[in-house]
Amino acid sequence: MDLKGRNFLTLKDYSPEEITYLLDLAAELKDKKKKGIPVDIHRGKNVALIFEKTSTRTRCSFEVAAHDLGMGTTYLDPVSSQIGKKESIADTARVLGRIYEGIEYRGYGQEIVEELARHAGVPVWNGLTNEYHPTQMLADLLTIREHFGHLKGIRLVYMGDARYNMGNSLMIACSKMGLDFVACAPEKYFPNEELVKQCREYAAASGATITLTDDVMAGTKGADVVYTDVWVSMGEPDEVWEERIHDLTPYRVTEAVMENAGEKAIFLHCLPSFHDLKTKIGKEMGERFGITEMEVADQVFEAPYSKVFDEAENRMHTIKAVMAATLGV
Ligand code: CP
Ligand code: NVA
Repeated sequence: MDLKGRNFLTLKDYSPEEITYLLDLAAELKDKKKKGIPVDIHRGKNVALIFEKTSTRTRCSFEVAAHDLGMGTTYLDPVSSQIGKKESIADTARVLGRIYEGIEYRGYGQEIVEELARHAGVPVWNGLTNEYHPTQMLADLLTIREHFGHLKGIRLVYMGDARYNMGNSLMIACSKMGLDFVACAPEKYFPNEELVKQCREYAAASGATITLTDDVMAGTKGADVVYTDVWVSMGEPDEVWEERIHDLTPYRVTEAVMENAGEKAIFLHCLPSFHDLKTKIGKEMGERFGITEMEVADQVFEAPYSKVFDEAENRMHTIKAVMAATLGV
C-alpha cells in the first residue's frame, strides 16, 4: 500500500483497504510507542500546523506524533499569522509548501482545506472542518476495533446534531467499513440527502446499513457503540444554544439510553464534552437553562463502559499513521 504524497481531507477519498492499512499502521505505531521502540523515520522533515479554530487533542496529537517521527513542527494559532486576513489560502499554501513537507489545517469550510491542498504541493491533512473530521474517524475506528476485535456488523448510534462534521464523518466511516450507522436526532438534524445517498452506495459495497430516526429507544436498541458530540460546534453563533438545548435534550445520552443499548455497549465522544458544570460554557448554560449536563449524563461519561480516553489517546497514534504513510513509510 503506497499512500505517499496523498492528502487526507475526508475519508470519502480513501478506500476501505486504505483505511484498514492506516488502522493497522496506527496499531503497529502504538505498540512500538508502548515498547519504547523509536519510529523517527521522517527525521529532518518539518510540518506546519494551522489552527483557525482552537484544539487540545488534535494539536497535541499532531505535535507529539510529528516529534516521534523525528520531525519539527510550527504551530500557527487562530490569530497570529497572515492567513485569510493579509494572505490568501492559495498564497499561504505555496509559501508553506516550499518550507514544510506537510501541512495540517483546522478551520471552517471544507473548500478551504481543499484549496490549500490544490496549491501546497505537499500532503495536506484535515484537522477538522465544518463538514468533516477524518483524523477523528481513524481514532474512533481503532478504538472500536480494539474493543470489539472487529468493525463489520458493529451498530453505532450517533445522537445529536448529525448534520455537522462528526455526524457526516461517522456516517462515511461506518458505511465504508461495514458498520451499521444510525443517526438518532430530530429530522432537521439529519445529514444532508446527497451525503446519505453517497454513503448508501458505500454501504451497498461494504454490507453496512444506514438508518435515520428520531426515535431514541428504537434507534439505540441493541447498539454496540453510542456516540455523541457537543450540541453547538466551534464557529457557530451563541444564539443557537437555546434552540439546540431545546431540540437535543431528548437526545442526551443518559443511563436509560445505555441500558437500552446492547449489554456490552460502549460510549464514545470525540471530546471536549459538557458532562458537568466544570467548564465556563457548561456553567453558563447551567445557569441560563437550569441544567447540569448537556449531550451526555455525567454518570455515563464516567462509567466503565465509557472509552473516551482510550479514544482520545488513539488520536495521536492514528494521526502518526496518517503522517507516516502520506510522507512515505
Ligand atoms: N476531538 C477533537 O478534535 O478535539 P480537539 O478539539 O481538542 O482537537
Ligand atoms: N462538532 C465539534 C467537534 C469538535 C471535535 C466542533 O466542530 O466543534
